[in-house]
Amino acid sequence: MKGLVLSGGKGTRLYPLTFTSAKQLIPVANKPILFRVIEAIRDAGITDIGIVVGDTAEEIKKAVGRGGRWGVKVTYIQQEAPLGLAHAVKISQDFLGDERFVMFLGDNVIQGGISPLIQQFATSDYNAQIVLTRVDHPEQYGVAELDEEGRIVRLVEKPKEPPSDLALVGIYMFDHHIFEAVNAITPSWRGELEITDAIQWLVEHGYRVYPYIHRGWWIDTGRPGDMLEANSLVLEELEPVIEGYVDRDSQVDSRVTVQKGAEIINSVVRGPTIIGEDTRIVNSYVGPFTSIYHHVLIENSEIERSIVLERSVIRDVDRRIQDSLIGRNVCIERSPFRPRAYKFTLGDNSHLGLVVNGG
Ligand code: G1P
Repeated sequence: MKGLVLSGGKGTRLYPLTFTSAKQLIPVANKPILFRVIEAIRDAGITDIGIVVGDTAEEIKKAVGRGGRWGVKVTYIQQEAPLGLAHAVKISQDFLGDERFVMFLGDNVIQGGISPLIQQFATSDYNAQIVLTRVDHPEQYGVAELDEEGRIVRLVEKPKEPPSDLALVGIYMFDHHIFEAVNAITPSWRGELEITDAIQWLVEHGYRVYPYIHRGWWIDTGRPGDMLEANSLVLEELEPVIEGYVDRDSQVDSRVTVQKGAEIINSVVRGPTIIGEDTRIVNSYVGPFTSIYHHVLIENSEIERSIVLERSVIRDVDRRIQDSLIGRNVCIERSPFRPRAYKFTLGDNSHLGLVVNGG
């Protein structure tokens, strides 16, 4: 089997963070989501992986390279515009040939990997298998209607009145019949060739399409809130390791990872949390569900349930920062805005100077 990872999209809902960089490269628990996707595919035994890239191609190629680091072979496929998931399949036909393949959206994070799924599909005579999970807002996704025996009756993309709460997770398995489908369908109202329509076409034309109901968590990291949620869920499963330095005046609990070259000085760090390489935490509190990436400085401040990207500085901030997504090279210094929580989505190279309470 082969793997196809879609890493085109612009990530507009994560602006300004993704204004200058690809959303698939935003780290969750200090590892880019795209790397997690590649690892999930590799762990399922697939080593020939195509990555569909768009405007952010150069950045993705630079970060991923040829795949040697993961023991896989990566082939890049350029998509000239974001014309839909089914369009991405269409332009990947030369790479995929007649092989069965798994398609994985490069901004999805799923609990437990995909090995069981791949095994089931690889040894079956299914033409396609889709992954479904129950969600609170099915109208935001592709939605499946199943019959009493659990067979697929119908698939609809972002229906106003969803026939069920079973959403299509961004992981799909196909054989070569999918090319007939992607060539037969026409663009949706949003101008895209929808993979949901292509699968519906397979169903209508009598092909064997089976659902797999995923019961763990799954997150499509489209918005800042989703990123924080994915970060929390992945942190909870991380095996903690202390490779950096923790001084005797600090308290670091058992669910904290301190990466190489990091220093925790006179601070309290509560897990699950990860402190990145060469980052310094000085006279500060870092609370649960926080990922601080590499070369960051946090001094005389408190932060929890947040993601801080590389080379940012947070200093002398007298209210706790929480639920925040902070970009690269950001500098946040003291200020007393009300209400007493800080909520930011800050872009790369931002500098935020906050007002001092009472002068
Ligand atoms: C796409 C699919 C949708 C699926 C979702 C999963 O939506 O079209 O069917 O449920 O991914 O993340 P999009 O992210 O393009 O809105």
